[in-house]
Amino acid sequence: MAKILISGDLLDGPVALARSRAEVDQHAGADPLPKLDLIARLRNKDGLVCLITDIIDDQVVGSAPRLKVIANVAVGYDNIDVAAARRRGIVVTNTPDVLTDTTADFTWALMLATARRAIEADRYVRAGHWRKWEFLRLLGTDVHGKTLGIVGFGRIGRAVGRRALGFGMRVLYHDAVRADPAQELELRATFADRATLLRESDFVTLHCALTPETHHLIDAHALRQMKPSAILINAARGPIVDEAALAEALRERRIAGAGLDVFEREPTVHPELLPLDNVVLAPHIASASEATRIKMATLAVENCLAVLEGRPPLTPV
Ligand code: DGY
Repeated sequence: MAKILISGDLLDGPVALARSRAEVDQHAGADPLPKLDLIARLRNKDGLVCLITDIIDDQVVGSAPRLKVIANVAVGYDNIDVAAARRRGIVVTNTPDVLTDTTADFTWALMLATARRAIEADRYVRAGHWRKWEFLRLLGTDVHGKTLGIVGFGRIGRAVGRRALGFGMRVLYHDAVRADPAQELELRATFADRATLLRESDFVTLHCALTPETHHLIDAHALRQMKPSAILINAARGPIVDEAALAEALRERRIAGAGLDVFEREPTVHPELLPLDNVVLAPHIASASEATRIKMATLAVENCLAVLEGRPPLTPV
């Protein structure tokens, strides 16, 4: 029987699936396996099912002589040195599609919560400050009818754009690759260069992968190009945004707000973001619905088993 390491807590169903067809060693506990333990436990394994908190670098793959497959339980795979794996003939897989709509839903949750100050409102009520209805209390900004700028028009970016149709928004998008005309028409989305998108959007939402090219794509300069009334949403990867520059822009009200599900050094949040009212913070949960997490983990286990049983993986990177 093939041997698999599951590097963290997954839901019972996908773990049972793995156990039914392989010998499973599962790391239990909320913290990721320390690197040396990961290396030690991978030494005799044929497959790895891992999470984004596991850093699978050249040293890790190089210390696993039997490893044939690394199945990430995520669509993003910037935690894995894919080139190092490929050099050793190890297949890397991810979990696209199954989380697209759930992630797009949460992007909208961040957008609406930030624009309409939903978290501030909740804190206000819980703190017992609500004494009477007030005409001018917690005035927010409308979402409907505004301009949405989507940076990264892949599956999730397009799903976010599709939801904007219901809000009667003008949609601009920017991506290295232009969408086909039928898609632009269906989503009523217009391609824009990055500067135009930043200048004209009321909401800028990020959906690109983290690569050397997108690292700090939103830096002090980009933030200065945005409207003072604009809101930035990031449910992609933290390092796409220069968090220190963002905190400064929010503090000085050079942009109006931000909704963040991801951070540069998770789980650490830039300390200057924490006291600000105009930012909504979430602990990287955009794909975290129960149904979607089951689908992600099942797909990762199926990818792992496929490779170990000599079949092509369902969703290779
Ligand atoms: C992903 O899938 O890349 C998310 O960040 C984790 O669900």
